[in-house]
This record gives sequence, structure tokens and C-alpha cells, in this order.
Amino acid sequence: MKIAMVGSGYVGLVSGACFADFGHDVVCIDKDPAKIAALRAGVMPIYEPGLADLVGSNVRGGRLDFTTDLPSGIEGAAAIFIAVGTPSRRGDGHADLSYVHAVAREVAQHIKTPVVIVTKSTVPVGTGDAVEQIIAEAGPAARFAVASNPEFLREGAAIGDFKRPDRIVIGTDDPWAREVMAEIYRPLFLNKAPILFTSRRSSELIKYAANAFLATKITFINEIADLCEVVGADVQDVAHGIGMDNRIGGKFLHAGPGYGGSCFPKDTLALLKTAEDYDSPMRIVEAVVKVNDTRKRAMGRKVIEAMARHLGQPASALRGRRVALLGLTFKPNTDDMRDAPSITIAQTLIDAGLTVAAYDPEGMETARALMPEVTMAKSAYEALEGADAMVIATEWDAFRALDLERVRGLLRTPVIVDLRNVYSTQQVASFGFSYHGIGRN
Ligand code: UDX
Repeated sequence: MKIAMVGSGYVGLVSGACFADFGHDVVCIDKDPAKIAALRAGVMPIYEPGLADLVGSNVRGGRLDFTTDLPSGIEGAAAIFIAVGTPSRRGDGHADLSYVHAVAREVAQHIKTPVVIVTKSTVPVGTGDAVEQIIAEAGPAARFAVASNPEFLREGAAIGDFKRPDRIVIGTDDPWAREVMAEIYRPLFLNKAPILFTSRRSSELIKYAANAFLATKITFINEIADLCEVVGADVQDVAHGIGMDNRIGGKFLHAGPGYGGSCFPKDTLALLKTAEDYDSPMRIVEAVVKVNDTRKRAMGRKVIEAMARHLGQPASALRGRRVALLGLTFKPNTDDMRDAPSITIAQTLIDAGLTVAAYDPEGMETARALMPEVTMAKSAYEALEGADAMVIATEWDAFRALDLERVRGLLRTPVIVDLRNVYSTQQVASFGFSYHGIGRN
């Protein structure tokens, strides 16, 4: 079956490569000639484990191709996926649908054979209706149906998430579109991946509701962590204890510096905007967004307080002190810096007159532009040299087994602020560190 994927960013590229790996004939289309040229040369525009190999083997197998030319790319396709960005619109936080609409308009002019148009981009409720209308107006002769098929891919684990999904959601009332979509996902169907058919609007909302719920779960445990710190409980035990209840579930209960990334911040804002448009307030999500925003700056203050306490000085006396910030990306195994808590944490420290030396295995190139006042080190150990605190902001594996003896020798002041609970007080106590995790003493 021929599939066209319009938009070769994170979602389009991973989905396209995985569909090709199922044996479909896939063309990934993108307006950016540099990106397409790089992909043709085997260079990935993003860091995602396993992606370069998956793309390479499917290109060699003749099942995956890249082009900037939309008309030829979509020719003969049974399905055209729209996988372009829907960034937060400046000013009101609504999802910016201009790219989705532009693709619909362009596609409409070149449809020659019956085709299912599938929105994979995260789009607000009702976007499928708008896409349908745009195509009907721009290409009155086109025979098509519009379906929604949201993605649930975590960066850093995207290929596994695509190939072993918890569920596949397909939103359409059109029997023919259902058939085409079922055929596309048949390899997963055979693997017993649950496939859920819903209306288009329900499918669009499932994506936002899932992300808002996960953001709520994280924010909930983060507030429980704050309470643990003051009452003398351990958030990891609390999370474990509540997670063993099947109704709650143990995942996404890892307390940390607040969620970031390309999805949760943007999608929670867009959901709030939809709720506002329909006059159906979502107070819980409103609170989640506010609590998470405030938390990032609070994490910077936590570092300052830990240093001040250890040195027995007021925070104002810390000017000129240096912090080693380990981990910059919003989570490990990605080079994505979007809405990373590290950005706010570094800024809070700099605003307080401290200096910051940072290291990240993949994110430093992007980070350099976002945090020009931060010194980028070549390794974790280089960042630690002469620093007055080691702060772990992202739980990269490389930070899980640091040589603590060496860390102690490099730090001027032995303070560890572990915002991801990678270490424990017991582990570091014998080295003489003053240790501060999240939600435990
Ligand atoms: C998310 C969704 O998981 C995915 O289904 C959706 O399609 C896109 O958005 P992603 O943003 O790649 O994926 O990362 P995710 O693993 O969900 O983490 C998001 C943020 O939450 C990160 O900043 C992470 O550090 C944080 N997080 C996650 C926690 O703080 N605690 C947790 O327990 C889980």
C-alpha cells in the first residue's frame, strides 16, 4: 500500500519509517530542501535512538523515499498523513493550524485517485471537519475521506512506542476509511495491538485528554513530593504505594523538576483554549499549567537554598558561586530542548548572580543558543571542576554512575541537588556530600 507522509519532522519521520518497515511503500514529503537532502544522504534531522538504522534499511529496501515535491509524492497514495507542526500560537496558546490547513489546500489540488487524508498532527477538536471543508472547496472533484489518527510517541522511545503501542486510535465514521486504516495498521493488529475506532472528534480529543491527564499525574506527584519534603516522607515510596493500585497505575509518577517537551506544555495550553472557546472550563488543567510553570523557577531556588544552607550564608552572599548543571534536554535520549526545565533553572541561577557550567550528551548545540550565558563543558567532569554544587536536571544514563570520589574531588563545595532522584542519600553520604533529592530527605 502506498502511503504519503506530509511533514518529515519527528512524528512524520518516525511514523513513515515504521510504516515502511511494516512493508508499506512510503514517501516522506517536506518543504525544507536541506532536510530532504540530508535524509537522502542518511543524516537524521533529530536524535532518536534507532531511527537512522530504521530509515537506512528501509531506504535500501526501496520502501522509503523522500521528496520536496508534494504532487509526485502523493500520487497513487491510498492514504496521505498530515504530520506537520501545530505549535502554540503566539498570544493565545491555541494550536496554530496554518500548516495543517496549507497542506490540505495543496493536497486538494493534486488528488487524482480516491484517498484517505489522515491527521496525525495533534489538532484541536473540529480540525478534521475544517480539513474536509478545505479539501472539498479546493478540489471539488477529489474523492476522499478525512480520518484522525493521533500519535502517542515518546521522544527517545518513539520507535518502540510505534511498534508496540498501548492502542491505536482511529477516528472516522466512514467505512471505507476504516478499512484503509485497518489495512495500514494490519501488521500491528496481527501483533494484537488494540485498535480503537471512534468518531473523528472523539479521536481528536483523546490525544489532548491523554496528554493533559499525564501532565496532571506528573504535577500531582510533584506536589506530593513537596509535601513529602516537609512532612518527612519519601515520594518514591508514596508513588510506589499508590501506583500498585491498578486504578492508579505506577507510570508517570516520577517526581522531578516539572514536565517539559514538545507536547505537554503546548497541548495543555491548546486544550485550555478549546475549553475557553466552548465555554467549558477545565480548572484542573489550568492549575496543572500554573503549578508546572511555577515549579521550574522553584527548582532554581531550591539549588540556591541548598548551597546557602551548606555554606551557612544568606542566598545574597552566593553571587559569583558556580553551579554545574548536568542534563539540559527536557528528558534523556533526545536532543530536544523545547520547554526544558533546565532553561528556567539556569536563568534563575544567573538572575541570582551565580554562574553556570553545563553538560548534556545531546542537547548542547541547541542549548547554546537558548542559554548564551551558560558555559558549555565537554564532559560532566569538566562542568564539575571548581563548582559549588552539582545539579542533575535530566536523568541521562551517563549521570547514573558518576565516579563520586572524583566528583567530590572536583567540586569546591560538596552539594548535590538531584532533581531526578538518580542517587540517594545513603549512596552519597559516605563521600561527604550534602544531598538534596526531590520529595525525600
Ligand atoms: C509525550 C507523551 O508521553 C506522548 O504520548 C505524546 O505523544 C507526546 O508527549 P514526550 O514529550 O516525548 O511524550 O515525553 P514524556 O516521556 O511523556 O515526558 C514528558 C515530560 O514529563 C518530560 O519532561 C519528563 O521528564 C516528564 N516526566 C515524565 C516526569 O517528570 N515524570 C514522569 O513520571 C514522566
